[in-house]
Amino acid sequence: MRSSTPSFWFLFLSVHLTLGASVNSTSKRGLIYISTSHSSDDDSIFIQSGSPLSWYYNYSPWPTDTLSGELEFVPMVHGASNAQQDVGTVKTHSNASHVLSFNEPDISSSDGGTNTSPRDAAKAYLDFLAPLREEPYNLKVSLPSTSGSASGLTWLSNFNKTCHSLNSTHGCPFDFIATHFYGPFSGLTSWLGNLHTLYPEAKIWLTEFAIPDTSDTEALAMMNESLPYLDGLDYLERYSWFGSFRSDDANEWTGDGVSMLDDHGKLTSLGAQYLGGQANGFKEGQGQNKEDNGGGAMRDRYSLALMIAGVGVSIVLAC
Ligand SMILES: *[C@@H]1O[C@H](CO)[C@@H](O)[C@H](O)[C@H]1NC(C)=O
Ligand SMILES: *[C@@H]1O[C@H](CO)[C@@H](O)[C@H](O)[C@H]1NC(C)=O
Ligand SMILES: *[C@@H]1O[C@H](CO)[C@@H](O)[C@H](O)[C@H]1NC(C)=O
Ligand SMILES: *[C@@H]1O[C@H](CO)[C@@H](O)[C@H](O)[C@H]1NC(C)=O
Ligand SMILES: *[C@@H]1O[C@H](CO)[C@@H](O)[C@H](O)[C@H]1NC(C)=O
Repeated sequence: MRSSTPSFWFLFLSVHLTLGASVNSTSKRGLIYISTSHSSDDDSIFIQSGSPLSWYYNYSPWPTDTLSGELEFVPMVHGASNAQQDVGTVKTHSNASHVLSFNEPDISSSDGGTNTSPRDAAKAYLDFLAPLREEPYNLKVSLPSTSGSASGLTWLSNFNKTCHSLNSTHGCPFDFIATHFYGPFSGLTSWLGNLHTLYPEAKIWLTEFAIPDTSDTEALAMMNESLPYLDGLDYLERYSWFGSFRSDDANEWTGDGVSMLDDHGKLTSLGAQYLGGQANGFKEGQGQNKEDNGGGAMRDRYSLALMIAGVGVSIVLAC
């Protein structure tokens, strides 16, 4: 490295700074990557310079090429039936610190869940997930993420019972709780409060939340109220809004109001707010297409990167 020419460093540093500037590793806020025909291009807005997002997941153990290196990847072992194979992928292909276990096992597959009995889930959890917490992996593993409802609580309680019947000393050991919630802000606070009462020692990740089937204005108001609350809640470690898709890709149950992108892949006012709004340089109508973002802003960032790179080169040369 010492023999590298300054122009190599110049190139390296400017590329690194331009792409890497977006990551705010202290932020709890993350991205749910949802694969659609547009997502690989559209999602570049979420990792643009100024973005407060720090992490992402995509419901699979495989990272998403366009996001890796920009945001921290959190793999998921989506269902108990594929747990062995997915855990194999986690072990060999990801460089993760946390793993999410089964997605909505209390919900039928036609509604987006994995419809798994607490017993099948507990067996797969103990056989495949729990060992990820040990050497040499030392990963932090979540409890299965249920829906934010009475059926979620019942499922978790039965899961816990089965875990203790399979391993009376330890049950199913876990490091954090992952959960979902759809509804108004008041429901969100009481759902999180319930979980915190049940598991007072555990950090909670809210890996899907939104208010379904409502107007853009109400969804925006709910998000507006939730973000500062979640940022300030000490036992809440991370959260991610559902979802990062175009309004015409939203499902019928959530409705269009939850979409962070419009039909053309530009930020909705909700999407801009999730990225921190004007304060971070994001506004409604902004998109992945560079021409639409204002050449001036791009040029400014580029010059800043060059300037910082110049300082970097001087330091390298001085060593
Ligand atoms: C990083 O995120 C935290 C929490 O959202 C925020 O308070 C802080 O200002 C952000 N820092 C930067 C440099 O954007
Ligand atoms: C793995 O993660 C560590 C710590 O975040 C980082 O230093 C390292 O470069 C990563 N390795 C790869 C191959 O991504
Ligand atoms: C899990 O089950 C064990 C053993 O029955 C019990 O002591 C513990 O309180 C249960 N935990 C939860 C969160 O239900
Ligand atoms: C119970 O779990 C602990 C910790 O994961 C493990 O060391 C132990 O072998 C398990 N016991 C049984 C009977 O599976
Ligand atoms: C968001 O909430 C703040 C107060 O916390 C309020 O001043 C602002 O108008 C709200 N914005 C939207 C878009 O709801």
